[in-house]
Amino acid sequence: MLFNLTEEHLMIQKAARDFANDVLKPGVIERDEHQKFPTEEIKQMGELGFLGMMVNPKYGGGGMDCISYVLAMEEISKIDASCSVVMSVNNSLVCWGIETFGTEEQKQKYLPRLATGQIIGAFCLSEPEAGSDATSQKTSAIDKGDHYLLNGTKNWITNGSTASVYLVIAQTHAELGHKGINALIVEKDMPGFVVGPKENKLGIRGSDTHSLMFDNVKVPKENRIGEDGFGFKFAMQTLTGGRIGIASQALGIASGAYELALAYSKERKAFGKPINQHQAIQFKLADMATQIEAARLLCLKAAWLKDKHLDYGTASAMAKVFASKVAMDTTIEAVQVHGGYGFVKEYHVERLMRDAKITQIYEGTTEVQKIVISRALLK
Ligand code: CAA
Repeated sequence: MLFNLTEEHLMIQKAARDFANDVLKPGVIERDEHQKFPTEEIKQMGELGFLGMMVNPKYGGGGMDCISYVLAMEEISKIDASCSVVMSVNNSLVCWGIETFGTEEQKQKYLPRLATGQIIGAFCLSEPEAGSDATSQKTSAIDKGDHYLLNGTKNWITNGSTASVYLVIAQTHAELGHKGINALIVEKDMPGFVVGPKENKLGIRGSDTHSLMFDNVKVPKENRIGEDGFGFKFAMQTLTGGRIGIASQALGIASGAYELALAYSKERKAFGKPINQHQAIQFKLADMATQIEAARLLCLKAAWLKDKHLDYGTASAMAKVFASKVAMDTTIEAVQVHGGYGFVKEYHVERLMRDAKITQIYEGTTEVQKIVISRALLK
């Protein structure tokens, strides 16, 4: 068993770290404060290849492995989790979903622009009454021969107003339950598609979260992904990989907070010496570093399994449930290490604490991950 990263992995990690520090860090507090979408920053991420890392180069992607993706996600998330959620949704839900299950025409039509960030995508599963209970889809896609007639509402959609391409999960044959669900590629300019109000959020405030309304949207049949009725399995399989991305985001939030706490503990003096000379602080740092290392290993293990085309469903759920808890615990402790300074925005850790919470909720709550894990254990 080898734990070392390749030269290429180290280069990607460094490129992501440098980009995050040089380009994302300067405006991160302002974007959070004003809920400002990082338009220019996302454009640059696309140009550098961070939005289609695993996409085959023949469709404009980087052709990289999932381990590279985890490494880059961690570095971007250390600095700006609002940018990393855009990156995660675009890479592992939208690009991966189309590349893995789409037709050749769909891949050629959408992937080159998605993988380079010329456009970004959104993944639309959640509804006002279908969050964890994802089979209860009320959005309907009625079969009208050469097209589907799409009606309904989606909630909490990342990239809601900034995306151009939306993967929408909808019920076609209600009598068949989850076997009657389809996944459709919806384009923003299709008549009847309306972007609803923007959510005012606790964290990842730079990202763009909206409800979406579909009012008799005509979606051509060729925009369906997979066979008739494949939509629920499409969503589940896509989210299984997506959870590696969110686990890596949580890892990055945790390691970003830890690095800030470590640096601050060397500068700040109390009772005549740097606070890291007090055991109370040393033990916090030791706990953070240990938890983060365990989370990193779970993320990399899930990515390694995916790269080897082995079953990674349980591993991705374990990585997400664990890393998101580590993100919460570490960011709370990082604020504590900073004391009063931790409570003000200039020191970054309070934002990381707010950003951490969503990693326990989106792409399957902690409780949903435990359902996935326990079912695998008991089968
Ligand atoms: N891969 C393939 N198939 C799967 C699967 C997987 N990972 N998980 C389930 N399925 C299949 C099952 O085999 C079953 O098919 P069959 O009937 O043919 O056997 C079918 O899907 C239904 O599965 P379940 O009976 O297990 O369904 P359930 O109602 O018990 O729900 C659940 C299972 C795990 C709770 C699931 O509903 C779930 O994951 N819910 C959470 C949804 C979620 O993650 N939402 C996130 C929104 S997207 C988002 O957040 C993106 C963003 O913008 C950041």
